[in-house]
Amino acid sequence: MISIHAASRRNPKPDLAVLLVHEGQDLAALPYLDAPARAAAKADGFKGQKDKAFYLPQPAAKAKRLLLIGLGAQKDVDLEVLRRAGVSAARKARDLKISSMSLCLAETSKLVGDAQAQALAEGAWLGLYRFDRYKSKKDEAPDFKIELLAPSAQAQAKMQSSLAQAKIICEGVMKVRDLVNTPPNDFHPQAAVTTAREFQRLNKGLKLRVYDAAQLARMGAGGILGVGRGSTRPPVLIHLSYKPARARKKLALVGKGVTFDSGGLSIKTGSYMQDMKSDMAGGATVLAAVLAAARLKLPLEIHAVAPFVENMPSGGALKVDEVVKFMNGKTAEIMNTDAEGRVILADALVYASRLKPDFIIDFATLTGAAMVALGMNVTALMGDSKIMQALQAAGDQGGEAMWPLPMPKAYRSHIESRVADMKNTGNSGEAGTIAGAMFLKEFVDEKIPWVHCDIAGPSYLKKEEGLHPSGATGTPLRSLLAFLQSL
Ligand code: BES
Ligand code: ZN
Ligand code: ZN
Repeated sequence: MISIHAASRRNPKPDLAVLLVHEGQDLAALPYLDAPARAAAKADGFKGQKDKAFYLPQPAAKAKRLLLIGLGAQKDVDLEVLRRAGVSAARKARDLKISSMSLCLAETSKLVGDAQAQALAEGAWLGLYRFDRYKSKKDEAPDFKIELLAPSAQAQAKMQSSLAQAKIICEGVMKVRDLVNTPPNDFHPQAAVTTAREFQRLNKGLKLRVYDAAQLARMGAGGILGVGRGSTRPPVLIHLSYKPARARKKLALVGKGVTFDSGGLSIKTGSYMQDMKSDMAGGATVLAAVLAAARLKLPLEIHAVAPFVENMPSGGALKVDEVVKFMNGKTAEIMNTDAEGRVILADALVYASRLKPDFIIDFATLTGAAMVALGMNVTALMGDSKIMQALQAAGDQGGEAMWPLPMPKAYRSHIESRVADMKNTGNSGEAGTIAGAMFLKEFVDEKIPWVHCDIAGPSYLKKEEGLHPSGATGTPLRSLLAFLQSL
């Protein structure tokens, strides 16, 4: 367990004192350092350069151990720099197996606001995440206390409450990571139901409705049923909601929950099938968002709508050339069973539209093309420009980049079908991410503002980066929650 508190007074002798230092900052003005420690830092060439750290196991006085973390030029210190400093400090503490450390935010930096404290805490919590449930030999879980020095006694209480919020948000992110990292033999549509029930147990204010295959058939949800047909595990549609007494707005969050995407009969080859357990990141994100929103007591009515299916080939599987009929009566010709996300989301978007929310946002690992367009670190946004702007601003604050793509009317032609209302692929090699969004748009009530977030790149990383270990990142839950807090 890593607990993080706001302290109003400096710890006289922490196991590890961590000081955040700007480039060129006068070390003589810092606490915990005495002249020999300063000389040692200087001899090591430490001047507060970005990504440079200086560690002293036995400083001559004061703290038991000392860690200086360089932040780089003061004008360039943003929240992401602080998050990464939080990662470095916490990883050092873990490696040293210490029990307490004091992070001197107030005395080492002009950046002493709650947002800065929250960023350091996010770095510490999220940077220490590990997924070792399936390792027979586990590393010891880190267990220590971090004290963040507040600039004043008044500031302490406020900082403490923003740390409590940061904790709820980080727990949500780690929950998403756990669900996405869980292998598909253990996380499948029925396990998603168990997860939603567990969320409901954690917060009694949540309401849960689960539609099984028989109910989906009565509803005419041919998209979810079609994709689910190839699997021995039946599909479900989960609707988890939070409705506070006085809600300022009502919104629906829709998430793609493909617990394994083999491609179906249009089967993925070679390494393309690897990591396709992560194709339910959108579904996990919206479920976790509702739980976190309830725990944060946000004044918003929020509905998470997530279909969970396994996309598998079999004798009974959905075939290429089939036409499926969705909940709103529209039809689509299946040209590629690997473009399954849009097919299940079609029904989910119709369902969400019928809830009559003020707006809808969907999250989906929808297209490989999103990674071609924007790489691994940027979420692609399409749809209502005002909501996109607000989401992008929240993403910038949270260090989770997002960028809008256009939805030109003319590109509707990309999904034109000769036999049905549309087909589930676009023109090969042309704007695949936009074609996916054009398809989804057909299922959103025209009067309801909607944004589609393609998170195929940033939700899952092959290599660790910053606060993200390799594997599931939990992106963009933090930004989504920041956006919800701003409403
Ligand atoms: N789940 C994939 C998209 C994906 C690929 C996410 C790699 C994360 C990493 C999606 O279902 C898919 O296979 N999309 C196809 C669509 C195509 C057949 C129109 C794709 O992107 O190739
Ligand atoms: Zn697919
Ligand atoms: Zn998929």
